[in-house]
Amino acid sequence: MINIAILGFGVVGGGVAELLSSNKKQTLLAGGEEINIKYILDLRDFPSSPFADKIVHNFDVILEDGGIDCIIEVMGGSHPAYEYTVAALKKGISVITSNKEVVANFGDEFIRLAKDNNASYRFEAAVGGGIPVISPMISCIAHNEMKEVRGILNGTTNYILTKMFSFGESFESALKDAQDRGYAERNPDADVLGTDAARKITILAALATGKLVDVNLVHTEGITGIRLQDVKCAEALGMKIKLVGRCVVEDNGAFVAVAPFMLTSDSSLYSVSGVYNAVEVDAVPLGNVMFYGQGAGAGATASAVVGDLMQIARSGVHTRAAVMEKDNDFLLPFSDFVSRSYVALDMCDRAVISEIFGNVMFISSEGECAFITDEMKEGDILARISSLADKGISLRSRIRLL
Ligand code: HSE
Repeated sequence: MINIAILGFGVVGGGVAELLSSNKKQTLLAGGEEINIKYILDLRDFPSSPFADKIVHNFDVILEDGGIDCIIEVMGGSHPAYEYTVAALKKGISVITSNKEVVANFGDEFIRLAKDNNASYRFEAAVGGGIPVISPMISCIAHNEMKEVRGILNGTTNYILTKMFSFGESFESALKDAQDRGYAERNPDADVLGTDAARKITILAALATGKLVDVNLVHTEGITGIRLQDVKCAEALGMKIKLVGRCVVEDNGAFVAVAPFMLTSDSSLYSVSGVYNAVEVDAVPLGNVMFYGQGAGAGATASAVVGDLMQIARSGVHTRAAVMEKDNDFLLPFSDFVSRSYVALDMCDRAVISEIFGNVMFISSEGECAFITDEMKEGDILARISSLADKGISLRSRIRLL
């Protein structure tokens, strides 16, 4: 029997408890061991829950029990998740998490601690919710030469962008709809400003390259600046705008970034709609593979958490661990990142625009001038954009093409 404690009885913690009780037959088959939820840590009481008798309010009860094999940390946030994880691993208790914030910030330390203390640290649910992508990256495809990992990693922003495209809604109206449906938090900043996706691409980049970079150094843009007029221009070009996390591996390091990108219909990510997520990997000799599914929600995320638990139940500490070490020097300066750009300006003197941006393809956009540039380094296009002010021209929008 495997004794577990769940830290946090919110959406994911509740989903894990529910899955373990509803799918007893399947989990016994998959893990080869009965799973016993011994404790659930939460600040609140849940008197009408079938798990009411498992609730404890003090982490020390779990730590000092002596019989806990695995802790499932689904509290979110860095603290006290960090302290609880360290304390558990130091006691040789394996830890499973869905918490991308702690994995992105401290994943290397946790993996080392787990190894030193004969425990496992697993985080399948931290990226892409229910999509099995972490395990394949650390086992089935890890031996490939990774060229690029890119993905739609945030369901809330993908839902908002899908609404803007499908129903011509403004960002504000689509966000309100996402909040009303419970997809977006009342404070949606972590999603709409790109922070959540930045943490996820930082984790994927670490798995692809073995280098965990500081998430605060990852170039991060959200979707708050995307206008309906940009959506219309993209549509006229047969393109969509998606918030994409990218890790592009070069000989001397990698570009890691999150930003809105315009995608053509031949991109695999083009059709990923609503709250769905997808992760695409380009690798040699594997080629291109895509992982697709629900990136959030109780059932999907619990499935990934319990998947990790099944691995531990079957293989104990011999499950294949992720390999990563902190290395910010591996992060290439984003000013050297090359892309084509869609640009919208508040004036339309084509001669002046060509003088500043060189060869461009003009596209029709009501009341302003929009065009697509040739490939340029980020630093180069930013310098050209800064020079607009001297000519009294204002930038209305700029979105990179994938
Ligand atoms: N807020 C996240 C999203 C939840 O919208 O994708 C899953 O990490």
